[in-house]
Amino acid sequence: MTFELHRARGPFNAAFFSIMGPYIEWNVRHHKGRVFAGLPPTVVELGSGVGANLRYLSPGSTLIAVEPNVAMHRRLRAAAGRRGVRLDLRDRLAERTGLPDRSADSVISSLVLCTVSDPAAVLAEVRRILRPGGTFRFVEHVAARAGTPTRALQRALRRPWAWTFEGCSCERDLAASVRAAGFTRVELEPYRLHSPFVTFNTQIAGVAHA
Ligand SMILES: C[S@@+](CC[C@H](N)C(=O)[O-])C[C@H]1O[C@@H](n2cnc3c(N)ncnc32)[C@H](O)[C@@H]1O
Repeated sequence: MTFELHRARGPFNAAFFSIMGPYIEWNVRHHKGRVFAGLPPTVVELGSGVGANLRYLSPGSTLIAVEPNVAMHRRLRAAAGRRGVRLDLRDRLAERTGLPDRSADSVISSLVLCTVSDPAAVLAEVRRILRPGGTFRFVEHVAARAGTPTRALQRALRRPWAWTFEGCSCERDLAASVRAAGFTRVELEPYRLHSPFVTFNTQIAGVAHA
């Protein structure tokens, strides 16, 4: 399993998330604020992108960032520097982080389980690296309810959406995936955004306890 960096779409996605990041952040800030509150001094993040979640870490803390798109790395390093967060950047996949068993107090992700090729493998990896009592905190976009207009649009746009956003799917039931992953407890809230990106508006935020 490898991450194929597309010559154009890799840098396009890095630029897209730099430009659109503040708008996305404004839309999800309350949900992120809730699930990312009180993060420990060292955090593992899957798919950090250009650093959307650095603001939820205290200055002086360490982010172990698992980010295989090297086109994101320069912006991520610069953002971590600006926030005073120590960055331990790993060019790895979330499916195989290379981190030791039971080594993490907290793993976070936002808008990543939609894109990885195997969400179940990623969630198994999260459980492997979390210490007992550790938390996986996530904000993700998910499939809308069957039979709704949003669901029909997600179906219709699945190919161009996936092509543009490097394999991203709007059709995943990630609440079911997290619940099926074997965590001891899962707290999860579904909600809807009201952005013009309709296929992206159905979301979940939550905390899964190892
Ligand atoms: C939609 S972006 C979200 C970035 C960031 N988390 C945010 O909220 O802005 C998805 C990110 O997941 C990364 N990604 C894709 N496949 C991955 C994988 N298998 N393992 C880890 N990260 C992956 C992409 O490179 C990209 O940075």
